Amino acid sequence: MRIDLCTLFPEMCETVMGESIIGRARESGFLEVHTHHVRDYAVRKGGYIDDTLYGGGKGMLMQAEPFYRCWEAIGQQAGGRPHTIYMTPKGKLLTQQRAVELSNMEHLCILCGHYEGIDQRLIDEIVDEELSIGDYVLTGGELPALVLADCVARLCPGVLADESCWQEESHGEDGLLEAPHYTKPAQWRGHTVPEVLLSGHHANIQQWRREQGLLYTAKNRPDLLEQAALTPADRLFLAQSQTKGEAGP
Ligand code: ADE
Repeated sequence: MRIDLCTLFPEMCETVMGESIIGRARESGFLEVHTHHVRDYAVRKGGYIDDTLYGGGKGMLMQAEPFYRCWEAIGQQAGGRPHTIYMTPKGKLLTQQRAVELSNMEHLCILCGHYEGIDQRLIDEIVDEELSIGDYVLTGGELPALVLADCVARLCPGVLADESCWQEESHGEDGLLEAPHYTKPAQWRGHTVPEVLLSGHHANIQQWRREQGLLYTAKNRPDLLEQAALTPADRLFLAQSQTKGEAGP
């Protein structure tokens, strides 16, 4: 997969995308990431790329043309039109399901806005979808773009050592949160590890994890239970734990 980021802060993006799993995936050729400084495509003297709002209002808006030229150059370089995403708090909420769909695309171009955003005409002309990473507002689109790029990239073949792991993690196929995990030592500051995890009994461990995942979801994200793939046994367990007053782990 190829990901292009259009930003006013390419160094910030390069730093994040050069570290850890994503950095190694780039080095081994499983992932191609390019960052572009939108200011390099400025049309005004001094590299200015923002201006005041028509109709009045506080703040500045990023102009359409520098983004358009940057995007056009990316398309020419890659030999095709990328799927283009604009990060904005006005966008649709990013979900794991959308990330899985995006990871099947060959080429993504992510636009990072600043100030009051980007001229709407640019969005109408080149943007395929607007995405938000949550119901809060950040100072710019770089962190959201990096969140999206990381989330999508780790789903691409070759990026994670064990690809099966993302099927069983939180927000995976069943739509539930994961059970809690424990590592050595078995005793830590007076806290023990749940007996069942030391038993070596695979079926009991599986059942315990399922139940703990259900309790965790009910406690922290009850909204997810509405969409989750629950079995009759899951529903019975949740109903019983509610009458017992077990809100969660
Ligand atoms: N830009 C500023 N805040 C944002 C958010 N929550 N999601 C996406 N882009 C943003």
